[in-house]
Amino acid sequence: MKLKTNAHSLRGTITVPGDKSISHRSIMFGSLATGTTEISHFLRADDCLDTLKLFKQMGVPITDDGKKITIEGVGLRGLKNPGKTLDVGNSGTTIRLLMGILAGQSFSATLTGDSSIQKRPMNRVMLPLKEMGAKVEGNQQSEFPPIQVTGVNDLQPINYHIPVASAQVKSALIFAALQACGETTLIEKEKTRNHTEVMIKQFGGNIEVEEKTIRVKGNQTFTGQSISIPGDISSAAFFIAAGLLVPGSQITLKNVGLSETRTGMIDVVKAMGGNIEITEIDELNESGNIIVSSSQLVATEISGELIPRLIDEIPIIALLATQAKGETLIKDAEELRVKETDRIQAVSDELNRLGASITPTADGLVIQGETKLTGGTVTSYGDHRIGMMLQIAALIVKEGEVVLDKSEAVSVSYPTFFDDLNELMEQTI
Ligand code: S3P
Repeated sequence: MKLKTNAHSLRGTITVPGDKSISHRSIMFGSLATGTTEISHFLRADDCLDTLKLFKQMGVPITDDGKKITIEGVGLRGLKNPGKTLDVGNSGTTIRLLMGILAGQSFSATLTGDSSIQKRPMNRVMLPLKEMGAKVEGNQQSEFPPIQVTGVNDLQPINYHIPVASAQVKSALIFAALQACGETTLIEKEKTRNHTEVMIKQFGGNIEVEEKTIRVKGNQTFTGQSISIPGDISSAAFFIAAGLLVPGSQITLKNVGLSETRTGMIDVVKAMGGNIEITEIDELNESGNIIVSSSQLVATEISGELIPRLIDEIPIIALLATQAKGETLIKDAEELRVKETDRIQAVSDELNRLGASITPTADGLVIQGETKLTGGTVTSYGDHRIGMMLQIAALIVKEGEVVLDKSEAVSVSYPTFFDDLNELMEQTI
């Protein structure tokens, strides 16, 4: 696909699609609750539609009238044997959280996914689940999918230090703990996104959180709810960057999720000297509007506890750094190597192809700015966030064409990405 280049003055207001992490969890809790759950602003993108499909395959009545999703919950242990392999597509969140959910059901099921999923590490979930007494096995005794999970009815609580900063691992273990007999204690390496914990409370359950320690009791019951999902800050991130980088721009992103556990990019943009403002904050729903305008950026350092708060935004932050004065250092982000693709390698290879100066390290990137980006042929490697980052990079290419291979990957999290960009290119204040 030929990308849009040489953009001027992106102006206007857009509402980005619903948060991906919250959309997955709303289907899961809605299914495991009793009673009716209604979800509005659900993310109808490949990943979340795969989660929805799988819960239907496990006997949960779910309907979509185009506006809202309605779920008739079957209770914590009420899922039914799907009678076929559960295919999660490209979604790491779906496969990992499902492992925890299936660990305590009354049937055996196999989970698999696309070629990317089949290379992603699962021991981080399987090993602690086995400590809880779960029956879970990877393909030919490896840690890779297909994964077979055989539900047991006597999962044991554990005390567990999670060795990687991962909300997927934490959430999988919380789902298993909810079905265990007794209280499980989980200690996070770093604080990660807390949507599972928030949703447990929203659905009438109990969970104690004290800094990085989480305590959760087994055999809880949940009650169906009405959920309104805020926009995904990880999708808004691409237009935040576009607004900062394209001269003469001012963009308003409406009703974006602003959980403290997700707003690392806003802190980084401020540290880089970017013009960014948050308005109309809704404290209850943890959301608000983000307004950005063109800015001269300076380099920064990103590491430590900040990393999980912006893990999915690192590719687009790396692009910002190519246009910031000085050397930006990103470290402690080795998790990027096991995302949908190896994002450390993908970001440096593809942006360097367009003229950037980025050195990959074992756990991050060293980025020289400012560099002039030029035309070229690049690939998303089938990774949605790499694809969208490259389109934003192309916007500031003044000479030559930028051609993106595997552009269809954006539909994993943001099917209307190119439409929203067109709208911003056409709008005037
Ligand atoms: C997610 C957690 C993060 C994130 C992913 C969504 C979630 O993954 O990168 O896009 O919804 O829990 P890790 O848990 O592997 O860090």
